[in-house]
Amino acid sequence: MPDLIIDKRPVSVPEGTSVIEAAERLGIMIPRFCWHKALKVAGACRMCAVMFLEGPVKGLDMSCSVLAAAGMVVSTDHPEAVDFRRHIIEWLMVNHPHDCPVCDEGGHCLLQDETISGNHCLRRYAGRKRTYQDQYLGPFVQHEMNRCIHCYRCSRFYQEVAGGRDFGPLQIANRVYFGRYEDGRLESAFSGNMVDLCPTGVLTDKTARFKARRWDLERAPSVCPHCSLGCNTTVAARYREVLRVEARLNEAVNGYFLCDRGRFSHGFSSLPGRPRRACADGKETTMPQALAQAAERLRVVAARHGPQAVACLSSCRATLETLGALAGLADAAGWTGPAVFSGVREAGETIHSVRALSPERVCSLAEVQRADAVLCLGLDPLGEAPMLALAMRQAALDGALVLVADPRPVALPLPFVHLPVHPRDLSACLEALTALATPVQAAALAAEILPRLLPGYPGLWPVLEKTAPALAACRRPVLAWGQAMPGVGTGAGPGSWTPLAGRISKAADILAASRDGCKLLPVLPGPNAFGAALLARASSGEGQPSHADVLAGIRQGRIKAVLAVECDPFDGAALSELETLVVLDCLPSRTAERADVFLPATTLFESGGTLANNEGRLQYASPVHACGLPVSQDGAGGHPPRAFDRALPGTEPRPAWAILEELRETLGFPAYGHPWGGVATAVPALAHLPRESYPFDGMRVSAAPASGDGFPDQLQKPDTSGRGGDYAVVWGEALFGTEELGSYSELVRQAAGETFACLGAEDAKGLGIAEKEIVVVTLGGRDVEVAVRIFPNMPAGVIVLPRLRGLAGPSGPGPECGTAAVRRKAGGAV
Ligand code: SF4
Ligand code: FES
Repeated sequence: MPDLIIDKRPVSVPEGTSVIEAAERLGIMIPRFCWHKALKVAGACRMCAVMFLEGPVKGLDMSCSVLAAAGMVVSTDHPEAVDFRRHIIEWLMVNHPHDCPVCDEGGHCLLQDETISGNHCLRRYAGRKRTYQDQYLGPFVQHEMNRCIHCYRCSRFYQEVAGGRDFGPLQIANRVYFGRYEDGRLESAFSGNMVDLCPTGVLTDKTARFKARRWDLERAPSVCPHCSLGCNTTVAARYREVLRVEARLNEAVNGYFLCDRGRFSHGFSSLPGRPRRACADGKETTMPQALAQAAERLRVVAARHGPQAVACLSSCRATLETLGALAGLADAAGWTGPAVFSGVREAGETIHSVRALSPERVCSLAEVQRADAVLCLGLDPLGEAPMLALAMRQAALDGALVLVADPRPVALPLPFVHLPVHPRDLSACLEALTALATPVQAAALAAEILPRLLPGYPGLWPVLEKTAPALAACRRPVLAWGQAMPGVGTGAGPGSWTPLAGRISKAADILAASRDGCKLLPVLPGPNAFGAALLARASSGEGQPSHADVLAGIRQGRIKAVLAVECDPFDGAALSELETLVVLDCLPSRTAERADVFLPATTLFESGGTLANNEGRLQYASPVHACGLPVSQDGAGGHPPRAFDRALPGTEPRPAWAILEELRETLGFPAYGHPWGGVATAVPALAHLPRESYPFDGMRVSAAPASGDGFPDQLQKPDTSGRGGDYAVVWGEALFGTEELGSYSELVRQAAGETFACLGAEDAKGLGIAEKEIVVVTLGGRDVEVAVRIFPNMPAGVIVLPRLRGLAGPSGPGPECGTAAVRRKAGGAV
């Protein structure tokens, strides 16, 4: 802990702290451009110069590049240092265009701030400025290269942190150019972080270009709703429309960064076709009338067929407040549900994943970065939880072994070992990895373990043998897994299966026994899947129905009415058999289109709410802006109609929990009177958590099982009969297009590009299918046509289908769709 003095004030800092950080501890902000806490030191801009008066370094030097040392005496406001920095600004401004009035960075531009604070107010240079040609970098990032000050933040992030190869510094000397070899969309899934990092207006958010000045934005801390990791964001809106999403620092979760899905998928909230009016029987009505209609219709069905004939459905995108209110309503009225998960397997896998997370085992993304081995099972990190891939890359850069056992053609921006095994062999693969990680087993490797556990994969034996020493030597392993694999946990006996989470939990015990521990990180099927599992456990244990159960109930005539809250589980066929469908949502979903009564809900950005991420971290997303039709859609587009006495359009939607609260009252049950009321009743342990004032990095809750909590290790096997075929269906997740909320945005749909299925080369040859040819996949009793891409290292007997709405069987794309038949379509070349 070196003790030093900065500006006459003493400070002690940990070994390895730079002087610029030591000053920050005292609240002294040394000017900087290139230095950023999350990037390696570059010493490129010379803006952080300070005077070293005493100690091992003497004279003017860069505070970002010099480590704090005992006995140092530093002056940040020494006249020579101030003058040096003033000249740096003046030199940078020689070439910087004076285009602040039309620059989107204006108002949060570091260069602007330092120019003013450095007192550079008169321009002495009268010559020509250096100019560059800008590039097209895709639909998300705008390039204005003339504004560059050559700090290298962008390229250091893009290449070192994110592992991107298509963007970087080109040319030399005074002509360094930050761009690509040629125009084209940035390939990295994390490209948007350069917008946050660039200290001036070279790289800005193209989606928000020229739409608002910084000081006109309404901004609030939020949480990303596009996967289960719960990255922290700052959301900015203007004129009732979300314009921008930026990364918000949370050291434990996303650090300083965000993936492009989280940053650019907000278009669903201001969708032109978003349903904003209450409807009954297809006709617009007022919210009170629609509520009365909904209550009356549900009451009639319950009176006629019994309360269990009314089923409540929701999804993992609903907040804890909404799920709590729905659980409370179902409980009070004696209705079925709420069913939150799509199928038996998804519910079982999620609840067991959550159970496995005891406080000493649960892992954050920050801990993934510190791991020395990351083993992913049935998980495509970049598609299912993109920021996990970024954390894994940082671990790999520090020497961690990364293994991914998954049949999909996994691509990651880091060195890793891919084990492409059939879903049914994932459990055996886990067993093999656990055995290899046990040093005493090493001798028996080639002779016994691998041929016995993975007999169908002789090609993988040498790969695994090669990684065995690193696996056996690791001290801080992390086991990560997803929820998308069919048939993973089979083998527990006829009619039952052991969830993968249960097997991983046991493997973690074995691994932890001979090392410092073994952390677990499940990737769950939605932003509040942990919260849903928490409520499911609390409300009715293993008997919690799924969407598939409710669908079966509708077909068998047991379920006559459905209250669907922020979910889209059906493709329509089953709905015609219902007497009443009440839908509450903010999206124009297939289910919403068929509602008898529709109640418009606000988005997370409008109402706020609590989400529990995959590690059980409760995080509150604050409301960002009031609900209403965006000004860009009201009137002529540029300005609302110039009338002073009209009501604002589109303000009818209400928070889903509040609508449910009113429905509760209309049905004659006492209201909770608070958004947290349902949660507090369902999970008493959460009753006194102050939901709007969690600590800065959220509050982790545990759902590790108390003994005898009623959850058996083996669950009933889902019925996948009638879906038949020879190919195991694995759902493919992409950065853009497959995530539900984002898929409503036109921009995201364009970015998603072509849709294709993936097939192994061996299978393609057997079926006589060529690359990009159309195949017919018979899935859940119906045919789907899709173009195919062929991958040489996919296991035989597997087809990967994009998880798109409308592509899967009648209960939606869920893990229940076990197998499918695949055939070549005659004349199907594209
Ligand atoms: Fe720095 Fe921005 Fe230039 Fe990159 S583009 S070097 S981040 S100023
Ligand atoms: Fe120190 Fe750029 S911040 S040289």
